[in-house]
Amino acid sequence: MRVYENSELIVYWYPELCAHVSFCVRDLRAVFDAKKRPWVNINGAAPEEIIKVIDACPSGALRYSLPAGSKVQPSLANGSGSLDYRDKSTVTKMKAIKKGPLLVEGPTAIYNMKGELIKEASRMTLCQCGLSSNPPFCDGSHRPDIRAKKAEAATESK
Ligand code: SF4
Ligand code: FES
Repeated sequence: MRVYENSELIVYWYPELCAHVSFCVRDLRAVFDAKKRPWVNINGAAPEEIIKVIDACPSGALRYSLPAGSKVQPSLANGSGSLDYRDKSTVTKMKAIKKGPLLVEGPTAIYNMKGELIKEASRMTLCQCGLSSNPPFCDGSHRPDIRAKKAEAATESK
């Protein structure tokens, strides 16, 4: 997990959960730019704007919390991207993306075959293509460009 913070907002990124659907990059490139390092510029926009985009992240790879003394209204920081978010929905919705992941919205718990809890969250993206390196979660490997990048990184590390 990587952390990006300033006095108003703390952003957490869980790379293994990122489905690389790039909604964050599309909607707020001043903050989320995959071509830059670090790829999250926490000072690139108002914290409220960043919160809005993180609330729309379908995989739960991006989350946020407010540091002590933040001037952001807590009522604006309690969406599904909040670290403390507890979903009160009674129904979990699943949407199958063609040639992409299964988007899950609503309280969901994933267990392994031993009955151990792997993840409990209200947003996640599950792999439908069978190529993910982090099953059952989508890690973007359904995209040929992401697969190529991973292969390149694996070769470099040898
Ligand atoms: S899954 Fe979330 S963090 Fe990953 S690219 Fe999409 S919106 Fe951004
Ligand atoms: S659907 Fe994304 S890695 Fe399989």
